[in-house]
Amino acid sequence: MKQAPIGVFDSGYGGLTILKELVNRLPQYDYIYLGDNARAPYGTRSFDTVYHYTLDCVKWFFEQGCHLVILACNTASAKALRTIQQNDLPKIAPDKRVLGVIRPTTETIGRFSETKSVGILATSGTVASQSYPIEISKFFPDVKVYQEACPLLVPLIENNEADNSGADYFVKKYTGNLLKKGSDIDVVLLGCTHYPLIKKLIQDSLPSGIKIISQGEIVAESLADYLARHPEIEEKCSKTGSRQFFTTDSAVDFDNHGTQFFGEPVQSRHVDI
Ligand code: DGL
Repeated sequence: MKQAPIGVFDSGYGGLTILKELVNRLPQYDYIYLGDNARAPYGTRSFDTVYHYTLDCVKWFFEQGCHLVILACNTASAKALRTIQQNDLPKIAPDKRVLGVIRPTTETIGRFSETKSVGILATSGTVASQSYPIEISKFFPDVKVYQEACPLLVPLIENNEADNSGADYFVKKYTGNLLKKGSDIDVVLLGCTHYPLIKKLIQDSLPSGIKIISQGEIVAESLADYLARHPEIEEKCSKTGSRQFFTTDSAVDFDNHGTQFFGEPVQSRHVDI
């Protein structure tokens, strides 16, 4: 058995906000990040398309030797993870593991709400999958979940429009719609890994008592716990503290945008999937 980095995947840049927290919490491990920028966004695509794109990328991580892959993308976690875990892994790589970001989030989110009323902002795909309401009801049956699809936020963020008035208009529209659905919401989850970049804009558009939760720290804590409980996987993860970045689109663009999401300079390489 050869040790290998932990794979971290997103449709584009958003997963870098998760990787940042993984690196903070578990700096000793090696990580390979892949952004499928050439085929992003995933959030508005069909189940089938997201599943096939995600599976292609998971196979690529396996070709790099990774034993553990984190889907740091809510849309891929909602639309592809279960099929990959249940149908594909047993056939193609029974000893490898693929984990997502929805399960760790739903295990904890109910604890943050006093009114037992949680709002979710996410892509159209994640909202349509109903993954959040279904999973949260398993862990917190008394928590009410309201969702609002925000299809324009990822394109605005990816195109550097987050600081302009157009972004402000759409954020207010989406958060306003969410609060119309659930007026006692006291916790809003950023259910898309891109949204931490506009956390302040979202916070400013909401009444002051509402807590905004982003997933990075939750996912990092959950991975630490997973690795402690699964020594057979943990011992296959290499630990030299290296980080490698790959994109299916332009490496120059990735490096320019990626820094914003990761919080420090990134140097990526292009890969054809
Ligand atoms: N960052 C992804 C997520 O968490 C969505 C981005 C996209 O639409 O491709 O859902």
